[in-house]
Amino acid sequence: MRRAPEALDAALQALEAQRLRRRRVVAAPLPRDAAASPGAQSSPVLVLDGRRVLNFCSNDYLGLATHPALAAAMAAGAHAQGAGAGASHLVSGHGPEHEALERELAEFTGRERALLFSTGYMANLGVAVALADRDDLVLGDRLNHASLLDAALLARTRRALRYPHGDAAAARRALEAHAAAAPRAGALLLTDGVFSMDGDLAPLPALAAAAREHGAWLVVDDAHGLGVLGATGRGSLEHFGLDAAAVPVLVGTLGKAFGSFGAFVAGDAPLVDWLVQRARTYVYTTALPQPVAAATRAALRLVAGEAWRREKLGALVQRFRDAARARGLPLMDSTTPIQPVMFGDSAAALDASARLRDAGFWVGAIRPPTVPAGSARLRVTLSASHREADVDALVVALAEAREGLAA
Ligand SMILES: Cc1ncc(COP(=O)(O)O)c(C=O)c1O
Repeated sequence: MRRAPEALDAALQALEAQRLRRRRVVAAPLPRDAAASPGAQSSPVLVLDGRRVLNFCSNDYLGLATHPALAAAMAAGAHAQGAGAGASHLVSGHGPEHEALERELAEFTGRERALLFSTGYMANLGVAVALADRDDLVLGDRLNHASLLDAALLARTRRALRYPHGDAAAARRALEAHAAAAPRAGALLLTDGVFSMDGDLAPLPALAAAAREHGAWLVVDDAHGLGVLGATGRGSLEHFGLDAAAVPVLVGTLGKAFGSFGAFVAGDAPLVDWLVQRARTYVYTTALPQPVAAATRAALRLVAGEAWRREKLGALVQRFRDAARARGLPLMDSTTPIQPVMFGDSAAALDASARLRDAGFWVGAIRPPTVPAGSARLRVTLSASHREADVDALVVALAEAREGLAA
């Protein structure tokens, strides 16, 4: 469809009328001196329009994004290596910090190799384009992250299918039907490890069994699991006790629990070498800046070495759920730091978000098309940088916002 400028204006007005127009907010982290309570190394406080608010909607689950060790590594990296890579990895942009980080990520995930991508979005597109042929099936959960849904669209295949959320039996049936219809073709099974808007976990053991049985590549995007789940932070796979043979392609992002930026794919050496040849979002783009890789290396040390962050986060999740249940808030079935509070109606979710902001809490309203129609929600995310008192106060404010809407 051609969109003339007048048509765009009308389309924007229509979004506005449905309370679906999206807007950005300029959010400034509080300068560290002002932010730090005694002993604290990072802060969930932001300044919006000159007012301080507690951030309950970032993916900085371990509180590393403002950690001084990351900032110091980034600054030192910039002095040593410069601000920009200047070229793609395959030309002259691949530096020692990239190389070291890839080695460390491979070790962290227990794989032969890891390959850095500039973003998780690009990693997912790159994997699907590199691995799927025209007759292959690309199969994914209906609630997969947009980047996995788009990966299925961009892959050269003519056969892309979605199965009902979390339904491993349906995934297995689709793989079976594909194997019967096209016995010589391959298949790619794509899933989030932790679903980004619902916070629940994919049924990875059942998906891994189905993929193995049908010779499909299982690709797990563990953007919200790595660093957070499992006793040592190895993510959804550690949570379920799955190894590299069960999940041959692991995608991780570095802008969430790792507090920096970028992404990686971990797997065996032939897989990674193939991605270097064929993942277009790897080949045809500038390498991410080395100071970013340096900061991520510092983050990795904290993720691996400071288990207390995960333990504290787990306790805060439990505290939030207990208090929210006691207040009758409609929670979803999530045990992760993603704790959506359902509103259904977009206008109600937006109004509740505005009320919370007035009370000093920032929780974004998530509306269609990010989530299915009729399932608008406040996506609360918890972080190890929150205090128990912050969580308690948020629950009170959420309950009051809901009561205020009903009044
Ligand atoms: C499950 C999932 N995968 C991938 C991404 C994209 O990662 P990135 O922000 O690094 O592009 C996100 C969110 O950003 C996500 O939630």
